[in-house]
Amino acid sequence: MDMGDKNDKHDVPISGHAYDGIEEFDNRLPRWWVYMFYLSIAFAFLYFCYYSLGSGPSPRQVFAEDRAAIDDARAAAAAAGGDEAALKAAAKDAHEVAEGEKIFAQRCAACHGDHAQGNIGPNLADDYWIHGGRLVDIDRTITQGVPDKGMPTWGQTMKSDKIVEAVAYIRSLRGTHPAGAKAPQGELYTGDD
Ligand code: HEC
Repeated sequence: MDMGDKNDKHDVPISGHAYDGIEEFDNRLPRWWVYMFYLSIAFAFLYFCYYSLGSGPSPRQVFAEDRAAIDDARAAAAAAGGDEAALKAAAKDAHEVAEGEKIFAQRCAACHGDHAQGNIGPNLADDYWIHGGRLVDIDRTITQGVPDKGMPTWGQTMKSDKIVEAVAYIRSLRGTHPAGAKAPQGELYTGDD
């Protein structure tokens, strides 16, 4: 095999490499490929100048900013205890209440009793609340839980709209006086929001 041999069909030089008798054409790279190559070098250069030498933010800074934004949003949501308007609307909506009843039977009845009369957890059908009886308070208690008292943090395993349904169901139980009701705990709340 001659180095720089021409291919008889295409007039393309042969590179001179041979692997198991297979030779390689020394084709010209396509123009578009070459331009992309140069462009990516130019991009890498500018990127390096901006992020490593210039004022571009470091990954650590971007991460810290994102974290701060998430923490702010969480704090705001926790302080508000959910969307009050959505909770009020759900409490009046028979479908949401019915969905909440299913959730309650599956996830809450074991501790709060099948009619929310109270068991390990407090009675949720009376007007006394340890953590506040407004819809937003109930939403917040369910979302955050009371881990050191045995109330799970449902915000980790339930979507917020499911929690809203559970709140709607709990509110619908007001004044139902279920049999075997656990004695009231906490403060009386008679408001209607
Ligand atoms: C493993 C047992 C357990 C399960 C399951 C559970 N809870 Fe609780 N829950 C508790 C306990 C215990 C408390 C009382 C916390 C305290 O003393 O501060 C409580 C408190 C609450 C309160 C606040 C009551 C008040 O007086 O302020 C609400 C509302 C509530 N639970 C709703 C729910 C809902 C809704 C579910 C289902 C999605 C649920 N819980 C599932 C144990 C449980």
